[in-house]
Amino acid sequence: MVDSADDGGSKDNARRQFLKAGLGAAGGALAVAGGARAAEPDPLITEVQDWTRYLGKGVDATPYGLPSQYESDVVRRSVPWLTADAKSSVNFTPLYALDGTITPSGLCFERHHGGVAVIDPADHRLMIHGMVERPLVFTLDELKRFPRENHVYFLECAANSGMEWRGAQLNGCQFTHGMIHNLEYCGVPLRYLLEEAGVKPQAKWMLTEGGDASLMTRSIPMEKIMDDCLVAFKMNGEALRPEQGYPIRLVVPGWEGNMWIKWLRRLELGDRSWEQREETSKYTDLLADGVARRHTFVMDAKSVITNPSPQAPLTHGKGRTVLTGLAWSGHGRIAKVDVSIDGGRNWSEARLEGGSSKGVYRFYHDFDWDGSELFLQSRAIDEDGNVQPTKNRLRAERGENSIYHNNGIQTWHVRADGVTENVEVS
Ligand code: MTE
Ligand code: CO
Repeated sequence: MVDSADDGGSKDNARRQFLKAGLGAAGGALAVAGGARAAEPDPLITEVQDWTRYLGKGVDATPYGLPSQYESDVVRRSVPWLTADAKSSVNFTPLYALDGTITPSGLCFERHHGGVAVIDPADHRLMIHGMVERPLVFTLDELKRFPRENHVYFLECAANSGMEWRGAQLNGCQFTHGMIHNLEYCGVPLRYLLEEAGVKPQAKWMLTEGGDASLMTRSIPMEKIMDDCLVAFKMNGEALRPEQGYPIRLVVPGWEGNMWIKWLRRLELGDRSWEQREETSKYTDLLADGVARRHTFVMDAKSVITNPSPQAPLTHGKGRTVLTGLAWSGHGRIAKVDVSIDGGRNWSEARLEGGSSKGVYRFYHDFDWDGSELFLQSRAIDEDGNVQPTKNRLRAERGENSIYHNNGIQTWHVRADGVTENVEVS
């Protein structure tokens, strides 16, 4: 390689030598991919570019860092016709543009029922009362004196994929599966706070209430509270984002997102479930026989291929291809993910990367695409042996009326030209 113009005489000489070496390397890479490209000099290598010619911005130009300007289309997106007003609405995580397992804080889908509460942490209080020996009120500073834990958990809204019950509808995994995020939480186990308050023996349920304008409430059984629920104040190492419940939110690992009360302000212990709006008219599943399932808290084993997908088509042509996606289960760990490129006729085991109990796993399947159309599917199997069902099986068991808890197998149709669409093969 040439590192200075002096070695080869003139600057042009140096560029010509660089070019030869560069083409050699590129030729090798192309042979592997099976593509073809004209062997023309690449000005991006042979010409000095602006970003090399001029000094860049110095430190402190952006005290709180932002993504590259070239990533400006990687954003949360909403579906305007889904809700009447943004204050009680949802937007979706751009899963197709992400990799690894952790969701970047600024890209977490949002689901608010009364907008984002703006709370000065100095003014925030958490109250515990009801069937306890000592009703207590905690300031944030007091909460932070209890032992903390860090865990990576997914939060999936029970309505994720809900629009897909009757057939393929939304064209992109952002919209079909983007009501999920996976964060590292830092918080205090709720049982420590309850030990402080003293739980009366007859207490079996806890009502949890948020401090936003919707005053969202959910009842949670005490076994779950004492097992792994957290009062979290950090996500991905920094303070919770306002959208995620700043200054504190309830973390209910593996259970439906609606129970993860944001802007958490009140915990009341009682001897039965409160059966409030979010656990009666919402978050129950009307079955074919007219009976509604209720208390369906756990999010079942589920997966989705994020690339290729409708927002991330296969533009590179045949040859070396990376298929990747996400898998998770509210029951615990993911044991295995199978993928199919022919609509479920043949399956092969995907390679799992990262992941944690009640957290998201990343899977990969690297293959040589022959350029023919594909029907991509993935199927998650968790450590308890739960297998992600086909959509037909789900509908056979649960009827056509449901919205929540759709963990059916998703199919993407990749056309020969690479364009990818949401279809159903069940
Ligand atoms: N908590 C309060 N206080 N208010 C809300 O509107 N929405 C719930 C839950 N907790 C909600 C709430 C629902 S339905 C979901 S899916 C999750 O928060 C969404 O969490 P996120 O906004 O961090 O994605
Ligand atoms: Co929800």
